[in-house]
Amino acid sequence: MKVLKNFIALHSIVITIHLLFFSKQLSMTNMQIDPKSDEPPPRKASYADAYNPHTFQNVGHRIIDMVSKYLGRATGRAADLPVYPPVTPDMLLREWGPLSNAKGGTPDDFFAMMERFLMQCNHLHSPKYMGHQNAVPLPLSVFSDMISSLLNNCAAVFDMGPVETVVEKRIVDWMCEKIGFKSGGGFLTSGGTLGNFTALLAARQVMGMRYGFDVWKEGLEEHTNLAILTSDQSHYSIRRPMQMMGLGKESVVIVPTNKDFQVTRDAVERSYAEAVAQGKQVIAFAASSCNTGPGTFDDLVMLSEFCRAKGLWLHVDAAHGGPALLSPKYRHFLKGIEHADSVVWDFHKMMMVPGLATAVLFREHKDSYQAMRQDAEYLYANRPDIEADWYTLCKRTLECTKISMGVKFYSMMSLYGEEFFANHVTDAFDLAQWFADRTRNDPELELGVEPQSNIVCFRYVPHARTMDDLNALQSQIRAAVVESGRFYIVQTTLPTGVYLRLSLMNPLTNKEDLEQLIVAVKAAGIKLTKPKTALPSVRAKEKSGACAAARRTR
Ligand SMILES: Cc1ncc(COP(=O)(O)O)c(C=O)c1O
Repeated sequence: MKVLKNFIALHSIVITIHLLFFSKQLSMTNMQIDPKSDEPPPRKASYADAYNPHTFQNVGHRIIDMVSKYLGRATGRAADLPVYPPVTPDMLLREWGPLSNAKGGTPDDFFAMMERFLMQCNHLHSPKYMGHQNAVPLPLSVFSDMISSLLNNCAAVFDMGPVETVVEKRIVDWMCEKIGFKSGGGFLTSGGTLGNFTALLAARQVMGMRYGFDVWKEGLEEHTNLAILTSDQSHYSIRRPMQMMGLGKESVVIVPTNKDFQVTRDAVERSYAEAVAQGKQVIAFAASSCNTGPGTFDDLVMLSEFCRAKGLWLHVDAAHGGPALLSPKYRHFLKGIEHADSVVWDFHKMMMVPGLATAVLFREHKDSYQAMRQDAEYLYANRPDIEADWYTLCKRTLECTKISMGVKFYSMMSLYGEEFFANHVTDAFDLAQWFADRTRNDPELELGVEPQSNIVCFRYVPHARTMDDLNALQSQIRAAVVESGRFYIVQTTLPTGVYLRLSLMNPLTNKEDLEQLIVAVKAAGIKLTKPKTALPSVRAKEKSGACAAARRTR
């Protein structure tokens, strides 16, 4: 209790110091929407002002200078730039006042506001950002995004976004080739969550038709027993669609995983048999390549054989790990993906471009039209020849105003080539392997699971801690490390307890950064565990296999 009180007091002091120290940086602008201000508006902008290309050019030059300087600070590991700014939700809510108080301003004010915005963000370009699975965007990709935002062409139908439609097809064809889909096809959509939803909608329709009913036309009627199988580690965007489709929680049959967080053939067979015995009509297995928490890959060769034997749809959520297909060293993790019926693959995770951009790919091109078979005569004529209608994307995606999302990747591939992206995957996965070795050889650290991707889970394991203390300690270490402003990391809960979790997304992160992180984690751990309690040591037991036993009994 005393330790906890000291911890809370210490952290309050740290936050206050940070807020005081960085408050200048955080409010170095004039264009604040002041909740109390009742000043008259400074001026009204004319349309001609708002669309003036000279203003765009002038402000644009200043913005480029500002962002370039920022990039230098962020990528250069500047000590005065906290990776995660010292902010709290309430503090920011107060500072960014109600929009109804907006009075208008000058381009200078706009510039200042954007500078303030920049400084209050989480700085992914810092090599010490090791948190979530967001790409650290290639700076030049932002220009492609800027141009497509200005043009605001959308790629729902060809006329609305002619170039984007074609760019998308080229990207989709390239991805199908990488997967090994010979007659594949697909489209881009806004994020892996939407991608998984769309793929599972298609699975439901195709499988329904195979079993003799048409959900699109007739609704579910008596077919409310449809179910999918998925591992206990799959992303929530696999489970959510089934409930959104009105099929209820029971429609997602969770298959338990082994110590590597992968499903085994035995476990899959058992879960399938149990589901069938309960009267469920299983339509698909949704595999993870890789899963989100521990970052391990399901065995797609085994799962594709299982799905073929049972006549099920195989969906592969490769939102994070799909790009491993580019890496000669790591593509073996995706062996068997060529047999999948559908695949989701994100660009805004391991493909170094900003969000959102996700490919939804189908082994059979025609299946990409199954998720929705909406008539919209004002947008497109219903041509029966699917192949001839590849350029009408709104027939396949849930989106209508579908932003132009392909050009940022197409342009970066043109600029840097495929090998550049392949190397990014190999380097990031290699770095995770190095960190795992480093952790394994350190008696004060423990690895959560052998990493297969660029996601690593580990924890600080001092002497004389109970398992509950150990779990609480990881959260406290994480908070202390993030509050220090020197690193951004996250945490996750595995069946064996709470772990610190790294996603090594930044190509500039190196071994030295990771060594420094270890020093910071240990320093925080030592501080937080003083004075030592007289509780029995679980450390020795864990190392001798208690941890492995805990995993086995899950
Ligand atoms: C394995 C996996 N699938 C899907 C998603 C969801 O993707 P998005 O954030 O693009 O919606 C995530 C997000 O982290 C993920 O890790």
